[in-house]
Amino acid sequence: MLYAETVEDARKAVREWKRAGLRVGLVPTMGFLHEGHASLIQRAAAECDRVVVSIFVNPAQFGPGEDLATYPRDMEGDSALCRRLGAAMIFAPEPRTMYPDGFAAFVDVEGMGDNLCGRSRPGHFRGVCTVVSKLFTILAPDAAYFGHKDAQQFAILCRMVRDLNMDIAMVGCPIVREADGLAKSSRNAYLNQTERQAAPVLHRALEAAAALLAGGERDTAAVVRRMREIITAEPLALIDYAEVVDAASLAPAARAERPVLVALAVRIGKTRLIDNITYSPEVS
Ligand code: PAJ
Repeated sequence: MLYAETVEDARKAVREWKRAGLRVGLVPTMGFLHEGHASLIQRAAAECDRVVVSIFVNPAQFGPGEDLATYPRDMEGDSALCRRLGAAMIFAPEPRTMYPDGFAAFVDVEGMGDNLCGRSRPGHFRGVCTVVSKLFTILAPDAAYFGHKDAQQFAILCRMVRDLNMDIAMVGCPIVREADGLAKSSRNAYLNQTERQAAPVLHRALEAAAALLAGGERDTAAVVRRMREIITAEPLALIDYAEVVDAASLAPAARAERPVLVALAVRIGKTRLIDNITYSPEVS
């Protein structure tokens, strides 16, 4: 497995693979890899000839007061996992490689980043779109793999790829969970034991929402009310948002007549967790 820190080294390897007619898959990550990331790497390995995993804690997507400085890192463990899963290369650039002095070009998808996570994290998706554009330009993958765990991120990146005519297949993968339903996340490492016990409340609320929708409830306000009841009953949990939006446009959906994204962000102590489900009503 190759380990590239510079744009030149990464490009050289990808160019050779492309020249040989190989299909290249990219899995963008911020490292501290877990089974969620592993599922993306496995999917990429099944569908592509060469898999590149990028590991870069992207300063541009962290706001002031967020956890950039303390974000967990484990390059040794990450390398071992990537090697075991058959990745061909890790691309792990330094911040100054991605953002040299005078860096001024940003990519923004207007509108879709204003609600949900965008409301409490202004500028976050501009940072995500900018770094993912750069990774796409540097590594020129045929396909890129993302988790539905970050559903708003995936929807915004798909719009970016469409609007900017990027010739990359965007592949969304299911959320990988712990046995008690908690979505796997690098940030779960911040939870202490009591917080960890409280954290599955997000999944419980989403399950209740799914049951209401499956039972025919179409009024999304009623769905949100039920989720809020469940979460506020957990003393350690503080709701950042609980929303039902159109799955494609992310615009608020008053009624669940089309596929909807039911999305939550909840603080458990100091840790902000997100989770979601997509619900598609059957069309008769
Ligand atoms: P990161 O949080 O490291 O996540 C990398 C990828 O793994 C994302 O596509 C995310 O949705 C996916 N992922 C995380 N947890 C998952 C889970 N439990 N199940 C399935 N997939 C999961 O998302 C980012 O990094 C960054 O914003 C990035 C796209 C790399 C840009 O910096």
